[in-house]
Amino acid sequence: MINFSDKEKNKFLNELYEFLKIPSVSADPNHKNEMVKCSNWLESCLKNSGCEKVKIIKTKGHPIVYAEKFIDKTLPTILVYGHYDVQPPDPISLWESHPFIPVVKKTKIHPKGAIFARGACDDKGQMFMHIKAFEWIIKNNKINFNIKFLIEGEEEVGSNNLEVFISENKDLLKSDIILISDTSMKSNSIPSITTGLRGISYMEIKLKGPNRDLHSGTYGGGVANPINIMSKLIASMHDENMKITIPGFYDKVLEINDKDKNEILKANINITDFKNSIGINELFGDTNFTLTERIATRPTLDVNGIYGGYTGEGSKTVLPSEAHAKISMRLVPKQDWKEISELFKKYVLNFIPKSVTATIKTHHGAEPYVTPTNTAAYEAATLAYKKSFGVKPFQQRGGGSIPIVPIFEKELGIKSILMGFGLDSDAIHSPNEHFGLFNFFKGIETIIYFYQFYTKKLSS
Ligand code: BES
Ligand code: ZN
Repeated sequence: MINFSDKEKNKFLNELYEFLKIPSVSADPNHKNEMVKCSNWLESCLKNSGCEKVKIIKTKGHPIVYAEKFIDKTLPTILVYGHYDVQPPDPISLWESHPFIPVVKKTKIHPKGAIFARGACDDKGQMFMHIKAFEWIIKNNKINFNIKFLIEGEEEVGSNNLEVFISENKDLLKSDIILISDTSMKSNSIPSITTGLRGISYMEIKLKGPNRDLHSGTYGGGVANPINIMSKLIASMHDENMKITIPGFYDKVLEINDKDKNEILKANINITDFKNSIGINELFGDTNFTLTERIATRPTLDVNGIYGGYTGEGSKTVLPSEAHAKISMRLVPKQDWKEISELFKKYVLNFIPKSVTATIKTHHGAEPYVTPTNTAAYEAATLAYKKSFGVKPFQQRGGGSIPIVPIFEKELGIKSILMGFGLDSDAIHSPNEHFGLFNFFKGIETIIYFYQFYTKKLSS
């Protein structure tokens, strides 16, 4: 067990608070300067922790931060990936404290306290654990590997510019394994390692009817209402069994094999706890699959936001000129996000009547990913969790996406190990996001063990 001193712990936390105070919201163009500020902050943080060749790489979007520490070419090289961008904090009124002023509060699940701030868990807090693990290893003279850090500012908006950087810098990024902490575990007493991520296709539809908003009495009944059509369109995308109706949508879905399915079902979800944790009375979805399968191994289609017409106080009688919807589809092996986006477009264009016109935009996409479990790196990760948590970790499939992970494999031929330490109840992407102090320090400890086991495995 590694016992960090109180002084060390306070130092780590105070630095993390500084990091969390920078509102690095990648989706919002008004935050461009904050993104630069955040990348500069990381640059000095990496330098202070003992990294060399620290540099900021400008892109067409937000900067990438790269750093490394090279020891010897005979030693294994680990590339640590993470992201410093965060999701928009909206709706701000639902935050109990300011999203960019971190505070520590105790919760039922985090009796030792949790840091409340946007990005505390996804992903600033989790990525920062890696910098501090490295700093500790350097300080304690335990470094016997080479390390590269690749930290981007566009994960939450699809990682398009990082993809370009990777394809142009294959030599720079050469390594044996990629290590990422941007996923969750089952619970603090049931640690788990994520062995799969879903892909995503993120689309936006604009339906346009009349050339201006109309009086709904004068025109209603004679003119198509784009919001009515949008509602019908969206409703038609699932059948009564919650299967997605877009033709061809399931054609390439590779059912999870029995061995993998049994592995992920071992840490089955307690349905009552699940429902209580998010305040719902009943589950929903395709009942041919268990909840665990549905939220991680099956594809989905969800409306993320819908707007148009009058949404202000009180009422206004209006037949709106436009309707908008942002829709994401989570994908599983072997669905191809570009193909799915095309099928989606075809479906929309085929569905809508001539009385409205559709503009369909593809925001971004990512392929699904599965981590092999018969590798030295996965075994080292398993041993690391076992040593720090005292129990063998379960395997779990993550329902979310990390767009760059399948690209690392495609472009560099390198696999990723997803050592996440957050909990699903940590409210990532929601108001009051937080990250447990226990998880933060356990995460640092587990990462340190990972290096020890991994280098031992590779040299034996
Ligand atoms: N940390 C998440 C990914 C994640 C969450 C994986 C939970 C597994 C379980 C990541 O930062 C994220 O939210 N990614 C986005 C990517 C998208 C915008 C392309 C996502 O999944 O919505
Ligand atoms: Zn996220």
